[in-house]
Amino acid sequence: MRKVTLEQIFTHPIAQKYLQRSGIAHAVAAAEHAFRFAQKYYVNPDLAAKAALLHDVGHYTWYRDGEWDYDLYRENDIHAIKGASRAHKLLIRIGEDRHAAKEIAVPILLHTDSYLPDGQLHLKPLQHVVALADEADEEFGGKHHYRKIDEQEALERLRTLDRKIDRNYKYPDRVV
Ligand SMILES: [Fe+2]
Ligand SMILES: [Fe+2]
Repeated sequence: MRKVTLEQIFTHPIAQKYLQRSGIAHAVAAAEHAFRFAQKYYVNPDLAAKAALLHDVGHYTWYRDGEWDYDLYRENDIHAIKGASRAHKLLIRIGEDRHAAKEIAVPILLHTDSYLPDGQLHLKPLQHVVALADEADEEFGGKHHYRKIDEQEALERLRTLDRKIDRNYKYPDRVV
């Protein structure tokens, strides 16, 4: 049995604060992609969906004179590092299993190589799935961070995903 659901994570005030900053629509879409890729690559769909949902919670808003400044962002961003730590803290607070919390935090840390000098990462399957899920929802110029979604629709889609993950736990060999 899962200790924590996507719904519990999503509705927590801390998650709400940071998910709104980086875009709820992107987070929900990435979680859905992660569930799909998890089945393709035979990794745990619960961990993949949670990591994808939270992968951008480390974002800071790089505004200069009221507008997003991409140069500032590219130079100074460490959202993957911040996000991994933030997500881990939140998951532990909600009651996630310690080992699972680490398994979720590492793909968040590695979902982008933007903070590394050479950008050479060798990803394990779960980490690869989360990076793929993020990429699958990316839009040019970071537009995916600004796409709007109705809060209720986001919740319903995560509930659907929770049910799929639960079914997957019961019947791991059956494709949902
Ligand atoms: Fe990101
Ligand atoms: Fe992202």
